[in-house]
Amino acid sequence: MSHRIPVGILGCTGAVGQKFISLLERHPWFRIADVVASERSAGKTCAGLVIKGPYDRLESRILFSGLDAAVAGDLETQYAELGHLVVSNARNHRMDPNVPLVIPEINGHALNQIQQQPTYIRNGGAIVTNPNCSTTVMAVALYPLYRQFGLDKIMVTTLQALSGAGYPGIPSLDILGNTLPYIAGEEEKMESELSKIFADPNLCISATCNRVPVVDGHTLCLSVSTRQPATYEDLRKAFETTYPTMDLPSSPSPVVQLLPEENRPQPRLDATAGGGMTVSIGRLRPCKILDWKFTVLGHNTVRGAAGGAILNAEWMVRAGLVK
Ligand SMILES: NC(=O)c1ccc[n+]([C@@H]2O[C@H](COP(=O)([O-])OP(=O)(O)OC[C@H]3O[C@@H](n4cnc5c(N)ncnc54)[C@H](OP(=O)(O)O)[C@@H]3O)[C@@H](O)[C@H]2O)c1
Repeated sequence: MSHRIPVGILGCTGAVGQKFISLLERHPWFRIADVVASERSAGKTCAGLVIKGPYDRLESRILFSGLDAAVAGDLETQYAELGHLVVSNARNHRMDPNVPLVIPEINGHALNQIQQQPTYIRNGGAIVTNPNCSTTVMAVALYPLYRQFGLDKIMVTTLQALSGAGYPGIPSLDILGNTLPYIAGEEEKMESELSKIFADPNLCISATCNRVPVVDGHTLCLSVSTRQPATYEDLRKAFETTYPTMDLPSSPSPVVQLLPEENRPQPRLDATAGGGMTVSIGRLRPCKILDWKFTVLGHNTVRGAAGGAILNAEWMVRAGLVK
């Protein structure tokens, strides 16, 4: 690409915003042209640029949003109305009917739905979203099994990293040497978003979410029953063969990796696999209650947030949706 597309980062000072900056600094298709945060941060510098406030004029065609959910709903709508293509991590618009909720390797074609958004028809502005971080990691791991064998029941328990709670996050005395057995809204998101991604309202899923003192990388313990019977070898092959090579700058190879060691995946060893975009699976074994159980790990601010959003934008550029 001879001219890199100017992009902006909304919420540039946050955990996700900072990850956007590190992933975009040397991106072959995009160059950071705008950095935006609250009025509290406006005027300071970030990535060599002066931080703008939420109502300043922006030159960027694409805006990556790592905005706090308390403000993302209205601000993202405002930017779409002004003609920007908002690629969001926030929960606010994920379940809106014409807003795609996308993991490109699973349902990239859903990004075409932006053509039905009134702002896109009027001036090219639109909102697209990627799922909640735990949902993304779970969906990437489950999709090969869902596609090849169907899934009857899904039980998931998460061990979620601190960076998932944003910056500055949870007070250290609440979490060091401790586990928090509740993350507001998280279980509901995991249950509803997976149905939208798989376009299957009948998924039977139960989620339990915990916060643990890990810096980066969400671990998920999953048990599933499949609609059609499958052997260990069938599952292994499904993980290995379901995902096509996408040939986009942020698409990892492999998309999922099945680790043979019995003490993997671990956040410290495996969260950065594939630059943080590869989801790692281990401990695949029979389950006495459902059919199979296994442990999954993915990087929450890369695959589960900034990296996933950048992949969505790359898919849209490749599909000619960025006018
Ligand atoms: N962390 C993760 O792993 C993760 C994963 C998936 C999705 N998400 C979602 O991504 C979003 C960002 O998460 P985060 O963890 O990066 O949160 P964060 O660290 O709390 O960052 C929030 C950002 O929003 C900005 N902001 C707050 N109020 C604003 C306003 N009125 N106008 C403009 N900017 C404003 C903040 O700027 P100031 O510094 O100026 O206040 C900051 O840059 C959230 O919606 C979250 O749910 C997070």
